[in-house]
Amino acid sequence: MKNLKKLIPLAIAGVALASVLTAGNPSTIKVRPFGKDRNGEEVTAYTLTNAKGMKVEIINYGGIVTRIYAPDRNGKLADVVLGYENIEKYIEATPYFGALIGRVGNRIDKGEFELDGEKYTLVRNNFPTEEGCHLHGGTYGFDKVLWKSQPYISGNEASLKLWYTSVDGEEGYPGTLKVKVIYTLTNKNELKIQYFAETDKATPVNLTNHSYFNLRGEGNGDILGHVLMLNADNMTPVDAGLIPTGEITPVEGTPFDFTTPTAIGARVNQEDEQLKFGLGYDHNWVLNKGEGGMTLAASVYEPESGRFMEVFTEEPGIQFYGGNFLDGTNIGKKGIPYEYRTGFCLETQHFPDSINQPNFPSTVLRPGEKYETTTIYKFSTK
Ligand code: GLA
Repeated sequence: MKNLKKLIPLAIAGVALASVLTAGNPSTIKVRPFGKDRNGEEVTAYTLTNAKGMKVEIINYGGIVTRIYAPDRNGKLADVVLGYENIEKYIEATPYFGALIGRVGNRIDKGEFELDGEKYTLVRNNFPTEEGCHLHGGTYGFDKVLWKSQPYISGNEASLKLWYTSVDGEEGYPGTLKVKVIYTLTNKNELKIQYFAETDKATPVNLTNHSYFNLRGEGNGDILGHVLMLNADNMTPVDAGLIPTGEITPVEGTPFDFTTPTAIGARVNQEDEQLKFGLGYDHNWVLNKGEGGMTLAASVYEPESGRFMEVFTEEPGIQFYGGNFLDGTNIGKKGIPYEYRTGFCLETQHFPDSINQPNFPSTVLRPGEKYETTTIYKFSTK
């Protein structure tokens, strides 16, 4: 009877029972209700478990990664991402914990741009200066909408497919954009995120995921002792409004040089104009791409637990944000307030404000083109 109860929701959600039931140590997907969104629509949580016992929970509201249970060097699992235990808190206030970000991740200067001779004005929802800018897709970006969802198991790996149609004019953007994201938890302890999009009118697109990591376990202190490597010789400096100046500058000799693994806290409080603007690290690094394709963008080592995370991406840039705006007002899953710098983000992306920066790689997607990009967060130990 117990087993039957377990299988019913899986069958309803369309998971192939045969895959769930295979012998050995298979990947599984557990489905549970996660409350209702602001429109009264049902939200669902999917727990993907792989053959090694690693677990990732994702909800179809905002495509939010709510939990990642990764092993430490003794095999002990801890939840290494910041987030909430219920939907109400995500609806009430979140600094994008775990969410899918779009239509354009990061900032667009004053929320304005010109494309094919037409001027567009987006929602301004972020105000580092009085003028403000458009941040992470606007007031109701992809992080705050309900995605259609379909879990499945293929090749003994658990995936969740999410899709969403962003209508023409949403948050000010041109064209109807059809977006699809596939999360896969591989048996190599990788969380793979594949992003796809198509449009019927030229529009900027820059999708990412905004997970906040703490490899000591969420709610377990700050992240300053994490040792970070960024595979980037250059960065895009910003002005006081956190908008890129358009320059691409070498990191060598600055607190932004993470080409040699260095503790996040080692230089974060140094006297430096860029650190002042970001209130710490909140910048885009220009990844060393070599031949291009999927390359190692970053790695993070947490010495106490031994947890090691590597980030691979096809994107040209990465925003490393050190949790400078966390101030204890967001109470986490265990009831512990998320204080200053207790989580960090590694958002793979095209550079901020690219739509207004002709020398940055283009974020424009045109009808007939296919937007396709993959990022992998890989967990291991040392
Ligand atoms: C991004 C931005 C930061 C901040 C966070 C959310 O990482 O670059 O400035 O807005 O999102 O708090």
